[in-house]
Amino acid sequence: MTAALPLISLRSVYRTYRADGVAVTAVRNVSFDIDQGEILAVMGPSGSGKSTLMNMIGLLDLPSEGAIYLEGSNVADLSEDRRSTLRARSIGFVFQSYNLLARHDAIENVALPLVYSGIGRKERLERAAQCLELVGMLHRVHHFPRQLSGGEQQRIAIARALIASPLIVLADEPTGALDSRTGSDILALFAALNQSGQTIVMITHDPSIATRCRRTIRLHDGEVVSDESQVPLAPKRSFAS
Ligand SMILES: Nc1ncnc2c1ncn2[C@@H]1O[C@H](COP(=O)(O)OP(=O)(O)O)[C@@H](O)[C@H]1O
Ligand SMILES: [Mg+2]
Repeated sequence: MTAALPLISLRSVYRTYRADGVAVTAVRNVSFDIDQGEILAVMGPSGSGKSTLMNMIGLLDLPSEGAIYLEGSNVADLSEDRRSTLRARSIGFVFQSYNLLARHDAIENVALPLVYSGIGRKERLERAAQCLELVGMLHRVHHFPRQLSGGEQQRIAIARALIASPLIVLADEPTGALDSRTGSDILALFAALNQSGQTIVMITHDPSIATRCRRTIRLHDGEVVSDESQVPLAPKRSFAS
């Protein structure tokens, strides 16, 4: 039996930004694989290159040197158009600030990534309802973002990330704007989604998040300083704080 191809492979990836004659190498010589079904945390202090790395894994940006392979294909070989299409189909993004549209209700926000997919409105809304159910938000379909708590808004944002059945969900500090109890609930949701097979990469500087992922990659000054797998801890019982 041959081993399955990794979902994503990074090989000696560098990313250098140039501005006003100054070059900043934000990611240097990074190599690792992400397999289908993994849940992994990327940790590191502010400025260590986490978002730069995430933008490349999410096909929003390309390496200055080295290569990224998505299911075996070098993403730099694709046209910009193909890369955008692939990104829309393959990557679900979750941000610290939720990034929901204020004038759209929950179900419309979730359905939004499918607007240009050629899927009709009825089916888009059906799929959005299914995703809202997955994140426990079916009772809030017609609420607007301002009527929802931070944790609820993040659940809506996660449902939106799931709607195109992405190969991978990328979350940049998904609990950064939440109190620790709510952050813990969002983490439990990611763990449950991973249990049902969703590949998830989470960026965080919160060590308590990392201890609940099976694998943690640590960055420092753009380099991987450790890549460790561990048995995830059971969800912490949270006491009112
Ligand atoms: N668009 C950009 N232009 C120039 N420098 C950048 C840009 N984005 C990030 N950087 C620099 O790259 C380094 C890594 O940034 P970033 O990837 O955002 O780190 P992190 O997400 O870990 O805080 C920092 O020194 C940052 O100032
Ligand atoms: Mg960042």
